[in-house]
Amino acid sequence: MIIDINTIIEEKKMNLKKKIEKLNNSGIYPKLAVIVASDDEASKIYIKNKKKICDELGILQEEYSFISSTSEDEIISLIKNLNEDSTVHGILVQLPLFKHLNKFKILDSICYKKDVDAFSRNCSSDIYLGIENILPCTPKGIISILDNLNVAYEGANAVVIGRSNIVGKPIALALLNRNCTVTICHRKTKDLEKYTKEADILIVSAGSPHLVKANMVKEGATIIDVGINRENGNIIGDVDTKEVSKKADVTPVPGGVGKMTVISLIENLVYITEKETK
Ligand code: GUN
Repeated sequence: MIIDINTIIEEKKMNLKKKIEKLNNSGIYPKLAVIVASDDEASKIYIKNKKKICDELGILQEEYSFISSTSEDEIISLIKNLNEDSTVHGILVQLPLFKHLNKFKILDSICYKKDVDAFSRNCSSDIYLGIENILPCTPKGIISILDNLNVAYEGANAVVIGRSNIVGKPIALALLNRNCTVTICHRKTKDLEKYTKEADILIVSAGSPHLVKANMVKEGATIIDVGINRENGNIIGDVDTKEVSKKADVTPVPGGVGKMTVISLIENLVYITEKETK
């Protein structure tokens, strides 16, 4: 079966609208600051989608764009000002950054309570320690989908393909925190099939079009496709959805995890706004 994301999204939007209205009624207007320092094409799409959901839900946003000759100091100085600005509740630095910029230094300058992506050292060590104050947006979206499907985490074999700091590593830790038996596979994994065939939960974030075929998955597994690949003018995922969906449950691409990610961003923003203004 292809997993229906739309019902989850509508429910989450309704909940968020209520929470935002409550904040607005107390004179609080959640505001997101977005920092862009790259000309990455995929990032432009992510930013457009983030803007769209902010507009729809009544979230204020400010975008700061930097040119390629910008320095780390310039960006860090802006972040320091935003850290001090009480009208700004969340700060997001869109990744990737221009190559000469040190992303760790920049991300670490975001103060803990405004780190809406949870990419700073402090927020990531929370997840490592099993605290999970907030999860990065894509892993949070994945967990929301799995929760909604009532997936049994305890003792389940969870296989994650991909080890990025944005998806692979944090989702592996989030699944471990939920008592799954977690295996992380990546580009150098020998005999990928050996692992995917045993997966009750399979998270695919490899950036490789239709990498996962029907013969590689377990009957009845739950599969989350995080891939966004362009092929012949179409967007396709990392999973051969048509064939795999005959055997297992799989999220669609487009219209799957990508949609959940932007909702998770707003959930994180609203959560940190509520926490800070209590
Ligand atoms: N680049 C790709 N995904 C993301 C994301 O979730 N957040 C940020 N800040 N950058 C990204």
